Amino acid sequence: MTEHAPAPSSAAARDAPNPVADISAQAFWARPRPEREAAFARLRAEDPVSWQRQPEGLLVELGVELTGGYWALTRYDDIRSVSRNPQDFRSGDGVMFEDAPQEFLDMAISILAMDDPRHAAVRGLISSAFTPKQVRALEDGVRRDARQVVDELDPAESDDFVTGVAKRVPLMTIMRMLGVPEQDRERLVYYSDAMVSGADPDYLQGREPLAVLGEALWILHQASTDLAEQRRKHPTDDLLSALVHAQIDGESLRTEEIAAFFVLLSVAGNDTTRHTSSHAAIALDRHPDQRALLLEDPEGRLPVAVEEFVRWATPVMTFRRTATRDTEIRGRAVAAGEKVVLLYPSGNRDEAAFEHPDRFDVLRTPNRHLGFGGGGPHYCLGAPLAKVQLRAVFGELLDRYPRMSVGEPRLVVGNFVDGISRLPMELEPA
Ligand code: HEM
Repeated sequence: MTEHAPAPSSAAARDAPNPVADISAQAFWARPRPEREAAFARLRAEDPVSWQRQPEGLLVELGVELTGGYWALTRYDDIRSVSRNPQDFRSGDGVMFEDAPQEFLDMAISILAMDDPRHAAVRGLISSAFTPKQVRALEDGVRRDARQVVDELDPAESDDFVTGVAKRVPLMTIMRMLGVPEQDRERLVYYSDAMVSGADPDYLQGREPLAVLGEALWILHQASTDLAEQRRKHPTDDLLSALVHAQIDGESLRTEEIAAFFVLLSVAGNDTTRHTSSHAAIALDRHPDQRALLLEDPEGRLPVAVEEFVRWATPVMTFRRTATRDTEIRGRAVAAGEKVVLLYPSGNRDEAAFEHPDRFDVLRTPNRHLGFGGGGPHYCLGAPLAKVQLRAVFGELLDRYPRMSVGEPRLVVGNFVDGISRLPMELEPA
């Protein structure tokens, strides 16, 4: 591709599938991982800042307003520098790969799709709950949760790793932090899943994607509004109380804003860590040498290994930005208003940034992966918490079931979350 080439100018060229890899095709995201990775490798080599046509999608077919093609960034350095340059690449015009109904964005995306100063102010309201120090204080609780989850496994029965393990610890932590009563937690997590896996047949069950999304949003907002009402009257030390009682420039957050933040935290705090655990369980099963390394010194090696779990899994695959002015990325001319999509799985396999990126290496250091984003103001708020959860879960599993094996995963289809909905496991006690 020629240097400085802008986006194609004719409508026909803008709408043509990219000749190196057409990542806007829905079918692309249903292909097996190795095929997607090979396509990203081709893009990194031949067209690292590629023009891609309007993404296909279930929501698109339902008449959502379309905003056209976009630039796809596949190299580590480009993803990192765009993430760290919010002046030129804003989030406030939307962060999803596909176009989505505005109501959905308003109700679910919260701070992800805000720019400073509002972003910093709202994120600041709860960021103190997620600092490494605060998370260390939560660690005992997370470890207790992990122990309980592993205690309740029955080696005599083959079970599903996702429902039996991966799903449970994140659910217990984030729902407790938010202050959701025990009896409502499972149900709310089901609807949080539907938000990001709504294109998956498991959730659709013959229904329209917008109907599934609408139902999930309605239930989550209702739950948040009810809880917020209770916390207004009887504050506790949970995150919802903090949001209800916080003020920015002398004004409280609106009920809908609190609900959107609640939805974001429920989704971000559940799916991501869960899918990372499932991908890591598969990786440890398929790479027994790496498992053996961990078993030699689990406590000492897990803090390094969990970074590799996240790089390997990269459960969040895409976020997008919008150029605020005419600019350039790696010599391509990006015009003001054009969308720029960050492809984290590609950046995390970039041979210019990682030695042997296709090798699962639990001792990899340094490991400055993009799993939690490329840095900058939106860098994952929950990263310290996710790492504590992963250490706790795998610490327990390696101790109690060092020979655990997992079978073939059932994958969630979509372009946002690289998820696993089922993963048969066989347990064999130590
Ligand atoms: C392995 C687990 C996780 C992964 C891979 C992950 C990944 C990400 C990514 C890629 C972003 C966007 C970064 C960017 O735009 O620069 C993000 C943002 C975010 N994550 Fe996570 N996440 C994980 C766990 C969590 C957990 C446990 C929470 C806790 C509630 C959480 C809460 C958030 C929030 C609130 C944001 C939005 C931050 C902002 O816009 O300022 N995440 N995460």
